[in-house]
Amino acid sequence: MNWVRKVHKWASVLVGVQFLIWLGSGMYFNFMDHMKAAGHTYKNHLHTSTMWSNLALVEPKTILQQQPASTSVELISLNDKPYYLLNHQRGLYPNFENKHSLVNALDGNAVAMNQDMAKMLALSSYSGPGQVLSATLLQPPLDDFPKQKNAAWQVNFSDDIQTSVYIEADTGRVVGHSDSDKRLADFFLMLHFMDYANEGSFNNIQMIVFAFFTLWLSITGLIWSIDLGLRGQYKLNLFGRKKTVKLFDAHQRSLGQISFSTHCNLLDGLVSQNIVLPSTCGGGGTCGRCKIMINPVVKTTSADELHFSSTELAQGYRLACQHFCDDVEHMTLMDITDAKKYMLELTGSVFLSPFIKELRFKARSALPAHFKAGAFMRFFIPAADGTSIPLNLPEHYQPEWADKTDTPYSHGPCSRNYSIAGRDQSSNELVFVIKMQAASGTDKLPGIGSNYLGNLAVGATIEAIGPFEEFHAKANSQNAMVLIGAGSGMAPLKALLEEQLADAMKDKPRRTIHFFYGARTENDLIYVDYFYQLAKDHPNFFYYPVLSRGHDDWLGATGYAQHVLALNWKTMGPVSQLEFYLCGPKGLMDDTITYLQEQGVERSSIAFDVFS
Ligand code: FES
Repeated sequence: MNWVRKVHKWASVLVGVQFLIWLGSGMYFNFMDHMKAAGHTYKNHLHTSTMWSNLALVEPKTILQQQPASTSVELISLNDKPYYLLNHQRGLYPNFENKHSLVNALDGNAVAMNQDMAKMLALSSYSGPGQVLSATLLQPPLDDFPKQKNAAWQVNFSDDIQTSVYIEADTGRVVGHSDSDKRLADFFLMLHFMDYANEGSFNNIQMIVFAFFTLWLSITGLIWSIDLGLRGQYKLNLFGRKKTVKLFDAHQRSLGQISFSTHCNLLDGLVSQNIVLPSTCGGGGTCGRCKIMINPVVKTTSADELHFSSTELAQGYRLACQHFCDDVEHMTLMDITDAKKYMLELTGSVFLSPFIKELRFKARSALPAHFKAGAFMRFFIPAADGTSIPLNLPEHYQPEWADKTDTPYSHGPCSRNYSIAGRDQSSNELVFVIKMQAASGTDKLPGIGSNYLGNLAVGATIEAIGPFEEFHAKANSQNAMVLIGAGSGMAPLKALLEEQLADAMKDKPRRTIHFFYGARTENDLIYVDYFYQLAKDHPNFFYYPVLSRGHDDWLGATGYAQHVLALNWKTMGPVSQLEFYLCGPKGLMDDTITYLQEQGVERSSIAFDVFS
């Protein structure tokens, strides 16, 4: 199915772009002035009909005898004079390739249109204020009239809209008027009909190629829809019902049975019963953590196939977020967390730096007595309106946001994971450190979750589940811990550090801890005094703040945290006695992991928190 998705994706991009062009050009046609768009602003619509005295004219019969073979002859008036128009070869339409000649009806002499005659004809068709600027005989194709297949005089006028009148050279026929309004309309017409080569027709190669892509978009969409339908991925609320499923743990011990709604996936169904499976993607099918085992006859999804071997799939391994309960009678939960759903009330919200806030939440129900430092909570962010500049920004931080545009926006419901930076034992509050993500452009949204939480008013409540203990210190280890982070990556590292220092107070073995923390400027260096004090009080703790853009009077390390780690590498002891804990921007994580692997650090000695 992968190729179907890829073709569908790229075909939809192409078709989507052209749809936008159609929409834009279609809107233009709705609002434009049709007289102007046709080039008729200075078109003279007066028609003179002149009655010629037959006696004064040469007989048509005589003309036909003197001139080359003709299929027809017609008496016409040009510049108020009578002419015979002889047709030697006639196309279906006047603009098609034709062969004509003109004969003066008064003396029977053939007439070749010259510049003066073309100017006179153009003037008689023109009603504007301009004067004739120039007259040029052009051979087809003509830019302004791409369908015209016969030579024509282009007579240009000196008016405000650059009018050009085109006179067909063989017949004296006014091909048309063109001006800046018509040229603009022609541009939109070209976009609307995909006539990018200006052929004057929608029957072009671009349209055929586009039709081909649209066909593929439809075919792949149909294949994909059928596949999803066959895998039971379409659910109509209309037919939603309840179904009871028996649950077992990984040792096949019964966990009882619970009732699922048939239009809610198994992961969400379990959460509604306060049973939480591990997940770092929030049900997107990408993390592969919500493992369950069900009847192997249940069709696999592409996400299942990505995360399980064929043997596991045959045994019934599936991702809970990808399936509904229709064909499920029994379900084995491979990994249940102690996470629960909580209603959290915001009790404190302060800026630690221009972009980072510390938020304190109190749970309305009892939190677990203990959970591992480094754990995270998943917040359920409701649909809301937001602004891209934080509310209540302290005055001294406002210059840092001065170049950001304040754009109001709306967002739908979503979930976001945030690491717990600590737990205040006295007030039983959970502490979070979040970065207010500014929008990276005027057309981009800022961080939806961080902005929503950062702008919450004290006293407001929000639902969250957790704690998820995915990132934590290795149990029963005496190795030195090296913490490396930047920005809001501070949160789980601070929690790990405090856990270790608290353990040491309880007469547990004292581990050496090195903490490399990177920030841009002194303003961004959060909790700096607190860590200096900890380093003073605990001889086993070493703190290395690093600034990438420190002021001249900054006496600490400059550069990036990973570079200062390299500088201090030899002081930290044997590699085999070090454990590394990373949390921060992707660049820092990638650079640090590469460096550690180059130094021979085992992969099992590196833990990193990927979502911060
Ligand atoms: S929750 Fe991540 S794959 Fe299911």
